[in-house]
Amino acid sequence: MFVKQLLPALAAIGSVAAQSTCTVSTTTVQSQAEATKLANCDTVRGTVVVGTTAGDINLDGPTEITGDLRVLNNGAISQISSSSLEKIGGSFTMTNVTKLNTINFSSLTSVQSLSWQSLTGINTVTLGPLREADSVIISDTFLNNLDAFNLSTVKILNLNNNRRLVKISNSLTSLEDFLNIQANGINLEVEFPNLLWIANMTVANVTKFSVPSLRVVNGSARFDSNLFTSFSAPNLTETESGDISFVGNAKLQNMTFPRLTSIGGGLLVANNTGLDRVDAFSKLENVGGAIKLRGNFTDVSFPELDVVKGAFDVSSTADISQSCDKLKELAPRSQGGDGNIQGVFSCTSNNEKANEDTDSDTSTTGSTGGSDDSDENGAAGIAFNAALLGLVGVAALASAL
Ligand SMILES: *[C@@H]1O[C@H](CO)[C@@H](O)[C@H](O)[C@H]1NC(C)=O
Ligand SMILES: *[C@@H]1O[C@H](CO)[C@@H](O)[C@H](O)[C@H]1NC(C)=O
Ligand SMILES: *[C@@H]1O[C@H](CO)[C@@H](O)[C@H](O)[C@H]1NC(C)=O
Ligand SMILES: *[C@@H]1O[C@H](CO)[C@@H](O)[C@H](O)[C@H]1NC(C)=O
Ligand SMILES: *[C@@H]1O[C@H](CO)[C@@H](O)[C@H](O)[C@H]1NC(C)=O
Ligand SMILES: *[C@@H]1O[C@H](CO)[C@@H](O)[C@H](O)[C@H]1NC(C)=O
Ligand SMILES: *[C@@H]1O[C@H](CO)[C@@H](O)[C@H](O)[C@H]1NC(C)=O
Ligand SMILES: *[C@@H]1O[C@H](CO)[C@@H](O)[C@H](O)[C@H]1NC(C)=O
Ligand SMILES: *[C@@H]1O[C@H](CO)[C@@H](O)[C@H](O)[C@H]1NC(C)=O
Ligand SMILES: *[C@@H]1O[C@H](CO)[C@@H](O)[C@H](O)[C@H]1NC(C)=O
Repeated sequence: MFVKQLLPALAAIGSVAAQSTCTVSTTTVQSQAEATKLANCDTVRGTVVVGTTAGDINLDGPTEITGDLRVLNNGAISQISSSSLEKIGGSFTMTNVTKLNTINFSSLTSVQSLSWQSLTGINTVTLGPLREADSVIISDTFLNNLDAFNLSTVKILNLNNNRRLVKISNSLTSLEDFLNIQANGINLEVEFPNLLWIANMTVANVTKFSVPSLRVVNGSARFDSNLFTSFSAPNLTETESGDISFVGNAKLQNMTFPRLTSIGGGLLVANNTGLDRVDAFSKLENVGGAIKLRGNFTDVSFPELDVVKGAFDVSSTADISQSCDKLKELAPRSQGGDGNIQGVFSCTSNNEKANEDTDSDTSTTGSTGGSDDSDENGAAGIAFNAALLGLVGVAALASAL
């Protein structure tokens, strides 16, 4: 099959050209002997699929594959390598390759996308390092570091269920679409020292998250079930359109956002039971959505808060009546405040069930919020659904299409 595809192409191109470009459409390599047939090709025009081979595969020769390089559902191969390959024009996809322990593409610096999933035996990865990729998905692998990757920008970075991964330190300066980090090694420490802006992120189950240079979150930032005791975004000034949320970070004691002045969407801080004060937002002026806070805190302060488009809904297991008295000054005029908060204002103390409400919509507020009447909850619910479920963003996207 391989020969049938390759030979006519070689014949058509002529011998000199054949040495440099081989057009294969899609070719399946079943053995090293078949892989070696590509050795004279500088550019392989097409997609290379590694079949059910049990042996190691070495793809020395080509510097570029214009299509994909794929290895799927192979439980036998243990090593795949190429010292020459620099670029994969399509996707470098490996899925369910459970005995693979070594990937060595020591010259590979550019792929369009990389997706490695269920590589449960992978131990050693060498890449150029990889400098260019739109999308990197690494899921359910046995990798313990990402030293093979040196991207300065990427659209999608999704790292999940890599149980041995305990440190991510990366020179990314921007991330254009989505970062997801979840369920990796216990005590995972994440550092993005050079990251200046990021479109969206969800980060869960990490012990440290460091973004000292981060200035802008264009979309949303969500932190769930992390193990850090403190969180700081020292240079963050705004989220352009999305939310900031911290839910169920059981050890969190200290948050600081010393320069954050504007949140385009909503703010949700809930069920972080170690957090005894919500005073991190000392410069926050504008919130495009709602603010919802639930926890064991005794103090809540937003000294610079000027405009909240949605509801302001706070409830604690502790007595926060002093904070409530102060915050009430910001309530809508209809509730006796000066109108900085445009949605419904609600602030309740001694609510045993405060931590049970972590939803980004307030449909359950009625059961936990104490004395609010249902009309107010309805209004608050609308504000939250729009802000925290990202409907504003979806609507904007829909109208842009
Ligand atoms: C994974 O690959 C093995 C062959 O190695 C196959 O038997 C199995 O069905 C594949 N699993 C999935 C979920 O595709
Ligand atoms: C990877 O391949 C390069 C080139 O063949 C070789 O020099 C290097 O030692 C290999 N690295 C590993 C970790 O096998
Ligand atoms: C990573 O890339 C940066 C430039 O973006 C370069 O300065 C640095 O040396 C690279 N690191 C490695 C390990 O290749
Ligand atoms: C995110 O915001 C930064 C700073 O304002 C901007 O340079 C960048 O283009 C924005 N990115 C996206 C994807 O909107
Ligand atoms: C990891 O985070 C998820 C939320 O994204 C949570 O459901 C899960 O319980 C966490 N796991 C651990 C071990 O903390
Ligand atoms: C934080 O921002 C200030 C002013 O914009 C800048 O001088 C400083 O270098 C930034 N810090 C980091 C760690 O990027
Ligand atoms: C990420 O954020 C941008 C705003 O910069 C938004 O338009 C986009 O829809 C978000 N993407 C995802 C996958 O949430
Ligand atoms: C909270 O964190 C900030 C900066 O990370 C630090 O300066 C401050 O001392 C911490 N406060 C507490 C009570 O730990
Ligand atoms: C937080 O409040 C809940 C509900 O009252 C309580 O069970 C829990 O012990 C408190 N946790 C801390 C760390 O104070
Ligand atoms: C609150 O967080 C604790 C862990 O700290 C978790 O066990 C519990 O399920 C969370 N509650 C809700 C409603 O998410």
